[in-house]
Amino acid sequence: MDERQLRQYLEFYQDLGMRDVYRRQTASPVVAASADPPPPPAVQDSFLTPELPLPELLPASDSLPKILEDIGDCKRCRLCEGRSKIVFGAGNPQSRLVFVGEGPGEEEDRQGLPFVGRAGQLLTQMIEGTARREGMKLLRQDVYICNVVKCRPPNNRTPEPDEMEICGQFLARQLRAIAPQAICALGGTAARALLGKKEGVTKLRGNWFKWNEIPVMVTYHPSYLLRAYNQGAKKEAWEDLKAVLHYVYD
Ligand code: URA
Repeated sequence: MDERQLRQYLEFYQDLGMRDVYRRQTASPVVAASADPPPPPAVQDSFLTPELPLPELLPASDSLPKILEDIGDCKRCRLCEGRSKIVFGAGNPQSRLVFVGEGPGEEEDRQGLPFVGRAGQLLTQMIEGTARREGMKLLRQDVYICNVVKCRPPNNRTPEPDEMEICGQFLARQLRAIAPQAICALGGTAARALLGKKEGVTKLRGNWFKWNEIPVMVTYHPSYLLRAYNQGAKKEAWEDLKAVLHYVYD
């Protein structure tokens, strides 16, 4: 088994919640494969003996409906206590581009849909406006949009690391099932979850990284852009989005 296969198996087991076959990364990325891949995790010798049949890496039956079914009436972390609806994700399940936000806000929690509040309206404008200006026919419904955590954190606080890790297995499965050409991480939480990066979004934005071989562009979260004192960042966010759209749709 070469290093790539070994890494894939370890990632697969990590998705299944088998924590003791890998060495925990400090930032607990969602099966991260960033620009600087982490060193191979420590493996228990007995786990990878040839006699043990290994499961398929990605079960052929995995799909967005199956993942949603597996989430069920989730009570895996404390975020279930305050939620009204689980916000799984929305858009084209065959999209070449996936946007990943942080977690549902009040309106998303009410409707069960991602990015439908003020930040969502701005995200829609950003996607459709940039596409139009760049001569592309692209609507919000053509891409897929989801979040790191599927339940609204109380008072819209940042999700805790354990919440991100628990829900991250579903995000990882969503991304694997969709297999987009690129991912756009909206804000620092999405960047941390996907890439394990500790740096702030101002440092990371505008750069390409990788999540399991899929290019990831980090940009500002639309909520950040709504604040009056961050208007200067809008131009940068538009540039980031332009780069993503050209990469995926040219
Ligand atoms: N902010 C997010 O990160 N996600 C949403 O769905 C809405 C607001």
